[in-house]
Amino acid sequence: MPQIINGKEISAQIKEELKEKVAAMKKEGISVCLAVIQVGDDPASSVYVGNKKKACAYIGIASLSYELPEETTQEELLALIDKLNKQEDVDGILVQLPVPEHIDEDAVIRAIAPEKDVDGFHPQSMGALCIGQRGFVSCTPAGIIQLLKRSGIEIAGKECVVIGRSNIVGKPMALLLLRENGTVTVAHSRTKDLKEVTKRADILVAAVGKPRMITREYIKEGAVVIDVGIHRNENNKLCGDVDYDDVAPVCSAITPVPGGVGPMTIAMLMNNCVESAALKR
Ligand code: GUN
Repeated sequence: MPQIINGKEISAQIKEELKEKVAAMKKEGISVCLAVIQVGDDPASSVYVGNKKKACAYIGIASLSYELPEETTQEELLALIDKLNKQEDVDGILVQLPVPEHIDEDAVIRAIAPEKDVDGFHPQSMGALCIGQRGFVSCTPAGIIQLLKRSGIEIAGKECVVIGRSNIVGKPMALLLLRENGTVTVAHSRTKDLKEVTKRADILVAAVGKPRMITREYIKEGAVVIDVGIHRNENNKLCGDVDYDDVAPVCSAITPVPGGVGPMTIAMLMNNCVESAALKR
């Protein structure tokens, strides 16, 4: 059977490391603070925001919480971001996405000062990643790199295939694997003969958005399989983009859902907040 990559354990380890780091920073008079903004009361967003605030409290990061009504105008939201950009004691600003339809998401992302862009979504952060300069990196792909490294999986020289080209996962994932000297292919909904492409992968990252689409016909024997998807199946049980039971016997390592990639996102968000505070001084 394959190595099961335990994201719950690895994220807990990262959070412990951060907790110690934050305690040490406090002794030197450096505090860490994340501002979290939610517009509207989408239940899934409320759960994510709640989990982020809980993680902050655990690590010793202060959090400022802004729960704005659905009717908030774009001008009001941008004014709040501007105020937080200027606020010395705020190290990170996170606007939970999606925002209501009457607000331009790109304008919101652009409004966050790049030095406080702990989500790594700002065009400057994405551009910096692209040309190998310093900047915050999107948390889910950054978490996947940590999963691989901390599981002893070598990336350099490997054939890496990313399925999905979103700004939040697919594109930054491809750039990070490239930075680690992988040979990277990005596949997507218009890729011809997807199986032929994914069968080349030593490391396959599935961010497709379709429950259990990736079966063993897509996998090279002995590949490492990273599953970014999270869905509910017909029995209301969580599942990923990968058909785990079908794929597990033919791969060398695999992330489960839940407990694989998911827990890493918040851990990396916390890491970005601590880094922002440390860099400021
Ligand atoms: N909505 C879903 N995932 C994310 C995320 O990583 N950051 C933000 N800001 N919103 C999200």
